[in-house]
Amino acid sequence: MMRSTPALRALRLPLARGLSSSATSSFAQPAETPAPKPEVLKSFKIYRWNPDTPAEKPKMQEYKVDLNQCGPMMLDALIKIKNEMDPTLTFRRSCREGICGSCAMNIDGVNTLACLCRIDKDTAKEAKVYPLPHMYVVKDLVPDLTLFYKQYKSIEPYLKNDNPPTKEFYQSQEDRKKLDGMYECILCACCSTSCPSYWWNQDQYLGPAVLMQAFRWVSDSRDAYTQERMENLQNNMSLYRCHTIFNCTRTCPKGLNPGKALAMLKREMATGLGATGPNLT
Ligand code: SF4
Ligand code: SF4
Ligand code: FES
Repeated sequence: MMRSTPALRALRLPLARGLSSSATSSFAQPAETPAPKPEVLKSFKIYRWNPDTPAEKPKMQEYKVDLNQCGPMMLDALIKIKNEMDPTLTFRRSCREGICGSCAMNIDGVNTLACLCRIDKDTAKEAKVYPLPHMYVVKDLVPDLTLFYKQYKSIEPYLKNDNPPTKEFYQSQEDRKKLDGMYECILCACCSTSCPSYWWNQDQYLGPAVLMQAFRWVSDSRDAYTQERMENLQNNMSLYRCHTIFNCTRTCPKGLNPGKALAMLKREMATGLGATGPNLT
């Protein structure tokens, strides 16, 4: 057993003091709890309609949310309302970062993604939230996208080539670049539901979101059905109801330019040049 010499005792002393002093400071002085922030109440008026009571007309329901207890985005407010005030409020959401396209709705008159839309901190202004316009409503803020997806399916949004290579399907950097500005679309439907032509003719007009994807496949150098794809659009209604009003481009929450893509598609259809590339970026 090691004997305790005066030198060893001298070494232990500061160590023991150091330990006890740090323990004392962490236990004896608890961190001060911050004073609660004052309430900042903002009014949210939200469209409500319940298919279980179809005789009742749709209405706007008001909720007051303390902005100091809420995240910064409109989706944060909707989730807070649903979690803490009214579990019957119905809306779609998934990723919370502008990737899935589920939370598309009309906020203060603009079609956008609730998860990318900041709450206006001005409490004098009430926020108004509706489902995407000119669509059948499933419940509250949930639009029926059945037709939208059916139209998307109709353009065969996948690579069509009867003689694909056995290994990698090479594409030059220039050809790959032609897809930029189109492949990023998340199919949120904000653009189509902001388009007056789509409002009035959606039974036949495909709308900007679907048509931009049609052009995405027309522009793909690996696809062998370019002419057939364009011929399928060669009628009065599918494409040519677009009058280049550009509501679609103005509203796209991903910053894409479907209006320009449709103009380029029309040009290619008119000139018959095939996939010359949109250069949308
Ligand atoms: S183009 Fe923009 S607004 Fe239209 S569906 Fe795609 S991401 Fe949504
Ligand atoms: S540019 Fe065409 S697709 Fe876009 S809003 Fe106008 S009419 Fe609709
Ligand atoms: S929750 Fe996915 S885009 Fe908003």
